[in-house]
Amino acid sequence: MKFIATDVDDSPQKLQQMIALQMEKPGFAIERYFYRSHVAYEQELDRLIFRSWLFAGHVSEIPENGDYLLFEVGEDCIIICRDQAGEVRALHNICRHRGARVCEKQTGNRKTFVCPYHGWVYNTDGSLKAARDMDLLEGFDPADYSLKPVRLNLFMGLIFINCDPAAEDFLPALENIRAPLGAYDLDHAKVAHKQTYSVDANWKLCLENYLECYHCASSHREYARRHTLRELEENVAHINAAMLARAEEVTGVKDIGKEHRKLYLDADIFGGCVSHQRYGLYQGYQTGSQDGKPVAPLMGNMRGYDGGVGDYQMGPASFMLNYPDHCVLYRFIPRGITQTDMQLVWFVNGDAAEGVDYDTDKVTWLWKYTTKEDEYIILRNSEGVNSRFFEPGPYQPEFEEVSIDFIAWYLEGLKNAPAIQP
Ligand code: FES
Ligand SMILES: [Fe+2]
Repeated sequence: MKFIATDVDDSPQKLQQMIALQMEKPGFAIERYFYRSHVAYEQELDRLIFRSWLFAGHVSEIPENGDYLLFEVGEDCIIICRDQAGEVRALHNICRHRGARVCEKQTGNRKTFVCPYHGWVYNTDGSLKAARDMDLLEGFDPADYSLKPVRLNLFMGLIFINCDPAAEDFLPALENIRAPLGAYDLDHAKVAHKQTYSVDANWKLCLENYLECYHCASSHREYARRHTLRELEENVAHINAAMLARAEEVTGVKDIGKEHRKLYLDADIFGGCVSHQRYGLYQGYQTGSQDGKPVAPLMGNMRGYDGGVGDYQMGPASFMLNYPDHCVLYRFIPRGITQTDMQLVWFVNGDAAEGVDYDTDKVTWLWKYTTKEDEYIILRNSEGVNSRFFEPGPYQPEFEEVSIDFIAWYLEGLKNAPAIQP
């Protein structure tokens, strides 16, 4: 069911009242209002999403000068391109004349971006190359009308963007996971497959679902058979301890098990969450595949299978789950009050050849399967929370700890964070 979510007596004052009430109930799920209020949704974009670091793509997707891809967030669109000098850039896809999008196709290669409306022409670095007959306007200087740039940070081939011109750099925070993430040499990795699931539910429901593994045992039979995260830590501590004890020697990567956790209100910078933990797979599983056997050559600097998987968060809504032979990136992006893009990107080692070294169906099997299960439960969740009879219950304190952290950041951000100044 697709909801036309509306709160009929909504206002910025009501939003602040609802935040104050919700803050009195820490540890509880949030009220239906936050999934139906258009005021809340707009302010989420202004104060949270557009001020956060978001995964936008990988350098291997735009290898040649002039290559680009589009990244759509809310009602906005950002061009991620490699300019003619080879530099990776992020540009607002909004003509500086009267605002038409200058680029329509999702991916491609361009020498210039030509606005379809009145034909202004932009270089791939965003500068205005030609504006027909505008020389008749006294004082018109093309240098004043470049496509607006978007903040961009590159980390190990991962492209992160932030629409807030005043945002702090994300790179110092990401440095904390350089050792364990470096194991996979993502700079030279290859995108084996990429898929976007457009889910008819509010982005917070999709994100909250990823943030907790309380549902793993009940909703993900295949995942739960392989990954120890489905259990309370104390029940699987011996499996994780044994894996961590052998991890460095087996993988050949120093500090591969190094933990880091700075999430949400605890993050070094606003919208710049960073975390890593390595947890164990159950016996018999070397990787997240159907039969537990490798499905691709070892990634980057990895030298063996330690029975572990690296679990990462980068920014409030981007994650990675890295097996020794392939990595899965997960990203959540709001596209409307009841629409979310869940994007998955599967990476394999840069020189692996499809059909020879790996079979895409085998690499993607587990997380395609698991994502369909997630979509199913998120839609059921959306139906329930949109009911006027929904009364939020308490989070499970261990499994849903990060969801609690997210909600605290969410409420604090809507209450106190400044709106973006474009
Ligand atoms: S809106 Fe782009 S040229 Fe007029
Ligand atoms: Fe799930």
